Amino acid sequence: MKITAAITAVGGYVPPKILSNADLEKMVDTSDEWIRARTGIVERHILDEPGKATSDLAVGAILPMLAKKGVDPAEIDLIICGTVTGDYVFPATANIIADKIGAVNAWGYDVGAACSGFLFALVTGSRFIESGAHKKVLVVGADKMSTIVDYTDRNTCVLFGDGAGCVLLEPSTDGLGIQDSITRVDGSGREFLIQKAGGSMLPPSHETVDQRLHYAYQEGKTVFKFAVTRMADVSYEIMERNQLQADDIAWLVPHQANLRIIDATADRMGLDKNKVMINIQKYGNTTSGTLPLCLWEWESQLKKGDNLILSSFGGGFTWGSVYLKWAYDTEA
Ligand code: ACO
Repeated sequence: MKITAAITAVGGYVPPKILSNADLEKMVDTSDEWIRARTGIVERHILDEPGKATSDLAVGAILPMLAKKGVDPAEIDLIICGTVTGDYVFPATANIIADKIGAVNAWGYDVGAACSGFLFALVTGSRFIESGAHKKVLVVGADKMSTIVDYTDRNTCVLFGDGAGCVLLEPSTDGLGIQDSITRVDGSGREFLIQKAGGSMLPPSHETVDQRLHYAYQEGKTVFKFAVTRMADVSYEIMERNQLQADDIAWLVPHQANLRIIDATADRMGLDKNKVMINIQKYGNTTSGTLPLCLWEWESQLKKGDNLILSSFGGGFTWGSVYLKWAYDTEA
């Protein structure tokens, strides 16, 4: 019997502190009107507790999810964490998450695919279920973007927020869960969205700090052009090759980078706005966190058998889409 990888639980977490557009108006030359009109963002959440890092955002999402599902952390086989703001350069944040939640029988690793981090981790995790290697895989998307955002650069500081989401993957023999995926990278786009220093190309030095090279740098216009076409194309492509019409799709779950990119993707797919998960106004771009945070927020509206398309575009460039059949109804 064919085994598919089904999402059987979702979790999400954003830290309590809110950074509003009005707060940013006091920090850089920007306006609430500009940010809303060009991005759709109204506020974002920031983790500002000393000693707390990306793994803590992840734990905030995972523990309530496992408790609600009644799963002991010791049952988890594998943890894959999509992130570009890991607690350390090494070891992997997945290891730290395993330690903090008590996943004593798990192995794990991180996936660095910027805003496609969760989607790539989901596709990777699904393979371990489909192959029969594992029964419980935890897929996490977590980023503390505030640590790599330059709050003197108006081009980027208005865009990002901190947050995390997660899903539990388990085997399904009813054909539910992940049906198909398309994943792509184009490394020639690396210069347009990049954290230039801190790696082996430009190790940390006084100069790299003075030149502010440890912050995320983005050529917004160029990235926008790629993002808007790639995310729309890949979402359309996965519909077409699975013979899905707009009416067959219950929800589009798009990466939340810019409302205009989300709208263009929905238009290309012929989808009504009311079938698109949008929470960018509350959280901004949480990088690897966006897709699972959407699933978490919409969980109670999702019905067993619903067709969902997840789509992402991120630095790298990285992009992709996943077609899945939702596997459960949430009890009220
Ligand atoms: N407030 C006021 N003005 C601003 C701000 C701001 N916060 N930021 C930029 N501007 C100005 C610019 O300086 C520019 O002024 P100029 O014309 O005098 O030079 C003007 O606004 C227009 O700038 P654009 O860059 O053309 O603005 P655009 O409409 O492209 O919006 C944005 C910028 C929001 C960044 C957009 O380009 C975008 O969304 N890009 C894609 C983001 C994305 O998808 N990233 C991938 C995922 S992120 C990841 O992987 C980590």
